[in-house]
Amino acid sequence: MANSKFEYVKEFEPDDRLPPSNWIVVRIDGCHFHQFSVDHAFEKPNDENALNLMNACAVSMLEQFPDIVFAYGVSDEYSFVLKETSQFYQRRASKILSLTVSYFTAVYVMKWKEFFPHKDLKRPPFFDGRVLCYPRAKIIRDYLSWRQVDCHINNQYNTCFWMLVKSGKTEREAQEMLKGMLSKDKNELLFQQFGANYDKLPAMFRKGSCVYRDKVEETVKFDLTGNPVKRIRKKVVLGHFDIIGPNFWREHPEILEED
Ligand code: GTP
Ligand code: MG
Repeated sequence: MANSKFEYVKEFEPDDRLPPSNWIVVRIDGCHFHQFSVDHAFEKPNDENALNLMNACAVSMLEQFPDIVFAYGVSDEYSFVLKETSQFYQRRASKILSLTVSYFTAVYVMKWKEFFPHKDLKRPPFFDGRVLCYPRAKIIRDYLSWRQVDCHINNQYNTCFWMLVKSGKTEREAQEMLKGMLSKDKNELLFQQFGANYDKLPAMFRKGSCVYRDKVEETVKFDLTGNPVKRIRKKVVLGHFDIIGPNFWREHPEILEED
């Protein structure tokens, strides 16, 4: 390659490789999604189609990028986890961050019509992102627990808030009623006033969404006698589990296995 006198400008590029042996998390978050949800008349507090669209984008991310081993999403945010040994783009922070945000956003726009066939996209959705490093898998679990606790607290509050508002309270009255109320009292309020059992709400609303690879049995073809030929394959799957307790991680130890 020609070595021009301009070549020296490359020396101004910082080396932004993330430290080795650290787990990597990229978290993206919808910008101004409060307004975005109003403009597109999302259901309150949870719009199933909007959440399914976010999940479809995350599934596509894992199908596209094998280095992502797990993703957790709630509301307008998604966290993507890469193994501590990942050499994805030589661990360069700006590359990893920018491609996550641009790929996710592109898929969101591409799939919009699939999830909202009767609604036009009125403004461009866009996401901010950050990249974080954690030195141990234990901290990744705590990170994910932190996001799921947030999901629970917000969802429980929003469920109460919108039930009160839909029953005729003003937003201010609903806010006043819920101020300082304990978690178990919020469940009690839902049950007493609205006959709603919080635990019976869809798991996607209460637990958020997990995307990872799992072994699934698939029919690959039919033999000459017409019987299905099955193979075990690793496939990107979506679920709404408790990831705070040990059960999910006990059943899927390979996801956060350290080298
Ligand atoms: P920035 O992220 O700071 O740009 O602001 P934001 O408006 O995106 O708010 P934030 O990320 O803190 O919160 C996400 C917001 O998106 C929620 O407060 C809701 O207003 C909206 N949102 C996300 N999911 C849903 C949904 O399923 N239904 C409705 N109605 N709104 C949603
Ligand atoms: Mg947001």
